[in-house]
Amino acid sequence: MAITIKSQRELNLMREAGKILADVHEQLGRFIRPGISTLDIDQKGEKLIRGYGCIPSFLNYNGYPASICVSVNDEVVHGIPSADRILQEGDIVSLDAGVIYKGYHSDAARTHGVGQISPEAQQLIEVTKQSFFEGIKMAKEGMHLYDISNAIGAYAERFGYGVVTELVGHGIGKNLHEDPQIPNFRQRRRGPKLYKNMTFAIEPMLNIGRPDVEWLEDDWTVVTEDGTLSAHYENTIIVLDGEPEILSIL
Ligand code: MF3
Ligand code: CO
Repeated sequence: MAITIKSQRELNLMREAGKILADVHEQLGRFIRPGISTLDIDQKGEKLIRGYGCIPSFLNYNGYPASICVSVNDEVVHGIPSADRILQEGDIVSLDAGVIYKGYHSDAARTHGVGQISPEAQQLIEVTKQSFFEGIKMAKEGMHLYDISNAIGAYAERFGYGVVTELVGHGIGKNLHEDPQIPNFRQRRRGPKLYKNMTFAIEPMLNIGRPDVEWLEDDWTVVTEDGTLSAHYENTIIVLDGEPEILSIL
């Protein structure tokens, strides 16, 4: 499959989807506090998404059993919400959510601190977010796809963080996952050329320690192999001929 260029109609639907998702994340962020379960977050997220008349895109995707991926501490992504998993002061929690609005997807992730967190955890969260912004500086017509990857990876490396290589960002539109795959680490080549009105979900995942990850028995939850903290930050964007447009922020 090739990288598709979206029409203005499609872009407008994706803008709507993005705005809704941004609001869902905003509200979930305010809901985070010690004592709630990861299932509480999923239930609130699903309600918010359906309240907008959207479909939670992750629910039943390849058998994933929830609407929001909730990943705590050394969990990188795809944590499965559970009533038994209670957030504690000092934890960090990554929320990944996707919505479908009139047939079009938006996908975004945020990592939050639970109550007071360590300076090390705070820095990881901030650098992960900033690595996304470093990457999208390259997301414009005339640049190449892996310029984004290289910028994210180079920024993360300055802090000594492990960049997860086994999971990548992706094109997005009528489908949650479209071509191309978008790595978050240095590539040998510059990759395909970027054209305006391509739509991407760019999602760096950074570990305090080594980049290696493994899958838990549930076949979903991805954790760091060395047990160090991991953070995730993702938005859906439109490539333009100037600055990219970030759809999933307010
Ligand atoms: N942001 C993740 C991704 O792009 C969300 C997928 S989780 C799943 O892959 F549950 F839907 F698989
Ligand atoms: Co994604």
